[in-house]
Amino acid sequence: MLRTLIVYKGVYGSTEEIARKLGMILGPSRCCTPEEFRDEYREFEFIIMGSGVYRGKLHPEITDFIRDNPWIAEKPVALFSVSLSMEDGARALREAEELMGIR
Ligand SMILES: Cc1cc2nc3c(=O)[nH]c(=O)nc-3n(C[C@H](O)[C@H](O)[C@H](O)COP(=O)(O)O)c2cc1C
Repeated sequence: MLRTLIVYKGVYGSTEEIARKLGMILGPSRCCTPEEFRDEYREFEFIIMGSGVYRGKLHPEITDFIRDNPWIAEKPVALFSVSLSMEDGARALREAEELMGIR
């Protein structure tokens, strides 16, 4: 089973709740925020990143994390956003994909 790292950032709790539930479903996994991330977590084989959407953007700590950790794009990656508008969530995720160079 792939070991999954879920890096998430939200403000009001929904993103964290989803991240933790994903962790329970996916088996061996760890959830952390960008500030809790430690270098040894690079060993995880599958990376999920999730963020709330605020004024049309992902949380800046997630976009900074993507910018600062280009090794992520070398692994299987999944992204999720939590927003009121599906359109805003999808747009914000496209920006994250562009940042990662996978689009
Ligand atoms: C200040 C603020 C700005 C927001 N801006 C957007 C937005 O531009 N588009 C949208 O779809 N949702 C927006 N939302 C709704 C949040 O994306 C939604 O509440 C989400 O669940 C937040 O995740 P969190 O609970 O992990 O913080 C905004 C919420 C707040 C409080």
